[in-house]
Amino acid sequence: MKVLVIGSGGREHAIAWKLARSERVERVYLAPGNGGTAAELKCVNIPVPGGDPETEASQEALAAWARGEGIGLTLVGPEGPLAAGLVDRFRAQGLPVVGPDRAAARLEASKAFSKSFMEKYAVRAARSRTVTDYAEAVRSAAEHFSPHRAPPLVVKADGLAAGKGVVVASTLGEAKDALDAFMRKGALGEAGRTVVLEDFLSGREVSILAAVSVKGGSRGAILPFVSARDHKRRFDGSRGPNTGGMGAVAPVPDFSAAAGEDFRRAILEPTLRGMEGEGLDYRGFIFFGLMVQDDRCFLLEYNVRLGDPETQAVLPLMESDLADLCLAMLDGSLENFPLKWKAGAVCAPVAVADGYPGLYRKGDPIRVDRKALEETGALLFAAGARLGEDGLRVSGGRVLAVSAWGEDGEEARRRAYKALEAVSFKDMAYRKDIGREGAAPGFA
Ligand code: AMP
Ligand code: GLY
Repeated sequence: MKVLVIGSGGREHAIAWKLARSERVERVYLAPGNGGTAAELKCVNIPVPGGDPETEASQEALAAWARGEGIGLTLVGPEGPLAAGLVDRFRAQGLPVVGPDRAAARLEASKAFSKSFMEKYAVRAARSRTVTDYAEAVRSAAEHFSPHRAPPLVVKADGLAAGKGVVVASTLGEAKDALDAFMRKGALGEAGRTVVLEDFLSGREVSILAAVSVKGGSRGAILPFVSARDHKRRFDGSRGPNTGGMGAVAPVPDFSAAAGEDFRRAILEPTLRGMEGEGLDYRGFIFFGLMVQDDRCFLLEYNVRLGDPETQAVLPLMESDLADLCLAMLDGSLENFPLKWKAGAVCAPVAVADGYPGLYRKGDPIRVDRKALEETGALLFAAGARLGEDGLRVSGGRVLAVSAWGEDGEEARRRAYKALEAVSFKDMAYRKDIGREGAAPGFA
């Protein structure tokens, strides 16, 4: 079977690597892929026709190409193309594609929609209100901050904002600044015209990725993967600016069996009932962003895709065949799919170009000592790296991740940091505490 993966990040490299290990898969095309996927076994990068998979023209052209090429399965990495209807267009052409359709993608693309979904189906989440009027939003924020020592207020833009749509405001002034930027100045375009004001939750963040198969109001299934944790802040000890993710571990040592059971009962099952109840067509991956307090889980958000960099930590632990899993999501047999996981743990720190998430330099050569890397047993997943005539070069802020397995988190971490020593580029930077106790927000 030939498979198409849409996207260009480390997540897509990990997806392509995992698909390529399937005996069923003869070739993995990536549109557009990156410098790592260009050299990956069985993988071929192709340009996105028209250049932007969020546009109708590019999606139609990709579907036409996929038909011509006889693509048997398509996976979509990022949320943008899903929210823009890629799955709808591929299905209209009879192409098997994994992902929510446009209507189901609103679980991520509209926080107002996802919050009302959570409320309607009693998915445990932070209390919130959705506001479209600026004056009303300011009033509501003022009310929140009227008691002495009010907890922070979380201001969220309704639409997709590439990680820039959430502000945790500690004071009324900060909340007003966010409301001004989102609702009046249009800092996020239409995405910020409606906002969700949400109670602040403390605790430890956990990401649960899962496979979903729900279609046409009939009984569906959601199979959760091993737990994972991203590290969003740029610097050690969770300090500094937010980033796209500085590293991930899986599974999460402090996510107990009791918390897992609570997640299933309070979040996963109500979500499944909700998807069935709304008649959604959701045959794709989902990401539950959780805040966990004393083994009680609260849902912060749905993402309608796999996480980045969580995928780079989770897929190396998946023993099952990813192509088989995708086909089970599409043919309605997911509930009986024997999803299997390796024992042990994975640590996947991300190497970034110094300056990221602000300005950084592109074009520097990346040296990889393949032999030293191999000795650690770690995988290298490229992200902001392109393949030049003489090897990899920096082309984005998050350049690559190494992903190392160990019998426990400690061993995985040791190997991952050893593996990073096999990689170098000018001004390479990374966090040294990925997976360490105290590294993620919420730790006392
Ligand atoms: P979201 O896009 O909704 O996941 O928000 C992005 C990040 O903001 C999360 O990963 C959390 O770190 C933080 N966040 C979102 N909602 C809350 C909340 N209600 N309480 C505390 N932190 C939050
Ligand atoms: N790691 C967070 C995300 O993929 O959105």
